[in-house]
Amino acid sequence: MSKGDLIMKPYRILCVCLGNICRSPTAEAVLRTYIKNQGLNIEVDSAGTSNYHPNASPDLRSQKYAKKRGYDLSQFKARQVNSSDFRQFDLILAMDLDNLNQLQKLKNNMMRHQAIDSLAELALMTAQDSTQLNRPIADPYYGAGDGFELVLEQCESATQAWLSYFKSKKIG
Ligand code: 4NP
Repeated sequence: MSKGDLIMKPYRILCVCLGNICRSPTAEAVLRTYIKNQGLNIEVDSAGTSNYHPNASPDLRSQKYAKKRGYDLSQFKARQVNSSDFRQFDLILAMDLDNLNQLQKLKNNMMRHQAIDSLAELALMTAQDSTQLNRPIADPYYGAGDGFELVLEQCESATQAWLSYFKSKKIG
């Protein structure tokens, strides 16, 4: 047996919102933190369905409120979702229904050329969370500070629910 045989391929999750500067980087940081604390073999990234803020750092308000809870968003850079994401990730988590629908359209286009089971599964961020089942992670961009707090609260709750799900399915 070679050394490489012992290394398990990580399960890969992509968090997606519109701009990739508020909600999805927050979700990425929260998921990464909980996954690290639990020692799971899961990698997390984030992207936006739009290309409004290419290579931008997360919104300063997102960074500020996240930092208060111990999450560091400062190294993240915004990027747009692309077709290779559907091959490279196992699960793509949309922050709201608009973004889920956009992702589904992109996936449908790819399914015309590729086997369905080799493309990422799509779900809402809140799809496993009975306390906010299938509710959107509310877009804070045009609002006040409490919107950014709410995003963090929603992401923490949704992440706990996903981790219970992953454990029950022996993922990671
Ligand atoms: P996000 O928030 O999708 O959570 O990153 C937004 C960021 C930027 C814009 C909208 C929402 N925008 O219109 O530029």
